[in-house]
This record gives sequence, structure tokens and C-alpha cells, in this order.
Amino acid sequence: MSTLAGKHIVLGLSGGIACYKAAELCRALMKSGVTVQVVMTEAAEHFMTAVTMQALSGRAVFTSQWDNREANNMAHINLSREADAIVVAPASADFMAKLLHGRADDLLSLMCLARPVEQVPLIVAPAMNREMWANPATQRNVAQLRADGVHVLDVGQGDQACGETGDGRMLEAEEILEDLESFFAPKLLKGKNVLVTAGPTYEAIDPVRGITNLSSGKMGFAIARAAHMAGAQVTLVAGPVHLPTPRGVQRVNVQSARQMQTAVAQHVDTAQVFISTAAVADWRPANSSDQKIKKDGSGQTPQLGFVENPDILATVAHSPRAVSGALFCVGFAAESHDLLAHATAKRERKGVPLLVGNIGPATFGQDDNALLLVDVDGARELPHASKQNLAIELVADIARRMG
Ligand code: CTP
Repeated sequence: MSTLAGKHIVLGLSGGIACYKAAELCRALMKSGVTVQVVMTEAAEHFMTAVTMQALSGRAVFTSQWDNREANNMAHINLSREADAIVVAPASADFMAKLLHGRADDLLSLMCLARPVEQVPLIVAPAMNREMWANPATQRNVAQLRADGVHVLDVGQGDQACGETGDGRMLEAEEILEDLESFFAPKLLKGKNVLVTAGPTYEAIDPVRGITNLSSGKMGFAIARAAHMAGAQVTLVAGPVHLPTPRGVQRVNVQSARQMQTAVAQHVDTAQVFISTAAVADWRPANSSDQKIKKDGSGQTPQLGFVENPDILATVAHSPRAVSGALFCVGFAAESHDLLAHATAKRERKGVPLLVGNIGPATFGQDDNALLLVDVDGARELPHASKQNLAIELVADIARRMG
């Protein structure tokens, strides 16, 4: 379930071409179970009609502090008191300058100023031309707004409506949604560095062929996302998968088990948690050819010998930091049968305090899963659910174990 479900958000629009993205954001918020009250400035109404935003949000839009639909005629007080957060998207350069100075000459800025600062966070998604964004005045304003406790989201980079290219675009609706989900998630791993491996590895036979497995990487990516949402700095070492990088997560792409081991070795010393979800290939071809192996017409098949790959998790789990408890290691086991027995044996063999078992063929490539958490005391089941929800539960479980 989304951390946003059940929340009430006042979505403020100030003037900018990015208003069209606010329409998508409104829809995405509603889909996540949020009730949305839209407030628009006069400038915003030049880019988007209140009718559109009313139709999307299912609520009449407020545009003026003189709106007499409110019995006490105090829309700025009423709207801000009932909100879990005020999200201004797009936030124009001018609107941010107004916020900075505590000006209050339109409903949206008045409402931001009148909000109870401790209870109603203010989150703004800047949107403007790259020169306006880079201007020292804007950068000064952003820094001061952050110092004042306003949560200023990043800007996107790329083509702008004016024809220029650079920083200053408003984030896409789904990126803002992701940042809002993170904002509301409990910060159970705040200050921790978490290293996650995910996906299969690919072991080359020659430049065009190799052996790999059916792991999609979805569980590991969901865990990386959940750990980031929980406030951790996350490094994700990913085998060859076509999944988007979760926002805020540092991704290192690798192909083979040995590359994965090198990447893990480079990042593990600063980590407090290592979660090894990757389906590392157990073996690699003993001799991979630099050139494509050709048929010679004789009907003979190539003789492929194999050597065992390094066991990344077992190596890390037996390192001094892991043994001393400075690094908490979590292993995964993808089994086809006898899950409890295999997972229990594997936990001891790998030397990890927690091993997470799942039935591989049932889950590879799927969006849902069921997990069996095995530790020294026994096993606990996390019943069938989306991989993202299971990841959130697993991260909470790991945080509890770390105290
Ligand atoms: N693992 C690893 N390096 C390997 C093999 C596995 O780091 N070379 C990690 C996986 O990321 C997982 C755990 O070890 O966390 C168990 O992986 P799995 O493939 O289920 O176990 P294996 O040790 O390969 O045992 P088997 O294939 O015989 O079940």
C-alpha cells in the first residue's frame, strides 16, 4: 500500500507551462488513495483551467482568498488546517520568491504562510527556464527556503518549452509521486548505508552467447527503493536487467559474477547493511572465447567446461565487519521445493543472521511474491503480496533487528 493512501493534500499550482504535469500529478495522487484539493494562482489559470483540475480532483478549485463559498470566508485557514501537506507543483521562480519573503497577496501564498509549520509540511517542485533556475537570486531563494524548512524537490534536466536545454524542468508526475511517497515513509534506516545486489549475472561463452538465469531483478529493485524510502543511502549493484533505477538510488551495472563481486567489494566497507538478492550464476565457462565460436561443419559441438564463481555473500558474511556485527548481512534463497529446509541449511552455510527464502520459479519476473524469513530462532512467513509491499516489510524487519 502507498504511504500516501488516506492522506489529504492541497495541490497548489503557480504559473508555468509545467501546469500540464500538475494534471497528471493530480490523477496519480488520486490513484494512490489521496484526496486532493487544488488551489491555483491567477498565473496558473493562464496555463490550465480550473475546470480541468476540478474534473480530475473531484473538488471545486480555489483561486481567490475572497472566495465566499467558505462560511467564514477564510479559505487560507480552512484549507491549510485540513491538509497533511501542501504541495506546490509547479512552483515558479516568482512564487518561490514570494514564499521566501512571506508575502501573501494571493490565496496560495497566503495559505502557505498561514499553515501550521510543524503540522503541515510544504513541498515545492520548482519549474522554470534554465537561466532563471541558475540565476543566483533563485539559487539563493532555494537555499533559504530549505533553511526555512520548506522541502524543495530537485528539478529535472532536458529540453525546455522555450527551446533551450538544461536544468529547471519540473520533475515528471511519477517522479514527484515517488518523492512524496518517500517523504511520508517512516525513516527507519536514516543515516544507514545499504548495499543491495539484484538481478541475474551473465557469464559469457563468447562475445554473442552466454549463460544466465530467469531472475528479473524486481525483488532487489523493490528492496533498494524501500530502503531509500526508509531514509538510507542505497547502492544497488545490478546484473543485466531492464528496470528503471529507483529514485535517489545509486546504481552500478555489472554483467558477470566476478564484476558483481568487485563492485560489492568497492562499496561494502561503508555499508551497515548488505542485502544479497542477486541470482548469481553458480558457474561460468572455464574458457570464454574472445571471438564468436563458429560451426565448422563437422557436426561437432563445442566442449564447454565450467568453473565455480566466487560466493559473494558468503565472502562478505565472513568478513571481520560482518562477524563483529558492524555489517548486517541478508541472504536470499530461490528454491524450487522444500523451502524451509533448504533456506535453514543455506542460512547456516552462508553464515548470515537472516535468510529470505522464496520459490524461484513461482516468482521470477512476477510483481508479487511470498517470503519466508529464516533466522536462528526459526521462520516467519510474509504472505503473498506485491514485491514492493514485501520489500517495505522486509526493510522494517531488518531495521528492527538492527535496533
Ligand atoms: N550468492 C552469492 N554468490 C554466489 C551465489 C549465491 O552471493 N556465487 C548469494 C545470493 O545472492 C543469495 C544467496 O547467496 O543471497 C543464495 O543464493 P542461491 O543461488 O540460492 O544459493 P547457492 O549458494 O547458489 O546454492 P544452490 O544454488 O545450490 O541452491
